[in-house]
Amino acid sequence: MTDSAMPLPIADSVPSLRAQIALWKKAGDTVALVPTMGALHEGHLALVRRAKAVCAKAVVSIFVNPTQFGPNEDYGRYPRQEAKDAELLASAGADLLYLPPVEAMYPRGFSTTITVDGVSKGLCGDFRPIHFAGVATVVAKLLLQGGPDRALFGEKDYQQLQVIKRLVIDLDIPVAIEGVPTVREADGLAMSSRNAYLSPAERAIAARLNVILGEVAGRAKGGEWPAQAAQWGRAELEKAGFTKIDYLEIRDAESLVALERLDRPARVLAAAWLGKTRLIDNRAVG
Ligand code: PAJ
Repeated sequence: MTDSAMPLPIADSVPSLRAQIALWKKAGDTVALVPTMGALHEGHLALVRRAKAVCAKAVVSIFVNPTQFGPNEDYGRYPRQEAKDAELLASAGADLLYLPPVEAMYPRGFSTTITVDGVSKGLCGDFRPIHFAGVATVVAKLLLQGGPDRALFGEKDYQQLQVIKRLVIDLDIPVAIEGVPTVREADGLAMSSRNAYLSPAERAIAARLNVILGEVAGRAKGGEWPAQAAQWGRAELEKAGFTKIDYLEIRDAESLVALERLDRPARVLAAAWLGKTRLIDNRAVG
């Protein structure tokens, strides 16, 4: 048996997580944390590989966080495959799987919510009103529980990444936040645990999202007003067969405020539905 095929050690409580990380730190090792909700794919594994490239030890958490799902969202049917995930993580080089039960994260009497203003507003924040407070709260907890040197998040969830960067600055959490580029399928569709919900016909349409975002970015870069390029993109998504468009916008790449003209680094971001599945994606403009 090679090292990478060894079963992955699991911590299922805050004390066991802290004990392991304390041992590593005492030995002089740096520690990275990769928070996930499981149902892992190559996008998640890219974060783990990057974590191992920059730190000696990589801890991956799997926790399907109830507080970031709205009442009519997919918490109940979110895909769960912990045994397979553990194997994938072992072969990607992870050193520890943190698998807290819901009662450990939200014990009776839990009453604290962290809301990050500004970047949480607009885009997904308009359509998922409690989502980023749920994300900020659970990520703050994970960072405080583990105390990693670095935590890695995907650019796939670009607004989430900006929310987390703001969170650690505002709360003086001593951790470096690193964004990792989106991993895509061969046809450009951003990998996502939710792609499993798509029917074959929806899956074919889904690939258009990234293509259209690329075209919108090109138009804006070529001199079209951001608002005009975005409007063109929304019409293209409709033509492609997306059943509902939550938003397609060009925003400041960091603060995510609306842009009238392309006078600073920008990002085109979209959320659109295929039947019951909501897809998000984003790309740099230029
Ligand atoms: P989840 O959707 O499982 O994603 C975990 C991490 O993987 C996030 O940082 C996400 O941006 C990244 N990721 C997902 N798909 C990716 C892709 N195709 N390429 C690169 N990175 C990708 O995001 C969450 O979980 C949760 O909100 C969480 C941060 C764990 C808090 O509950």
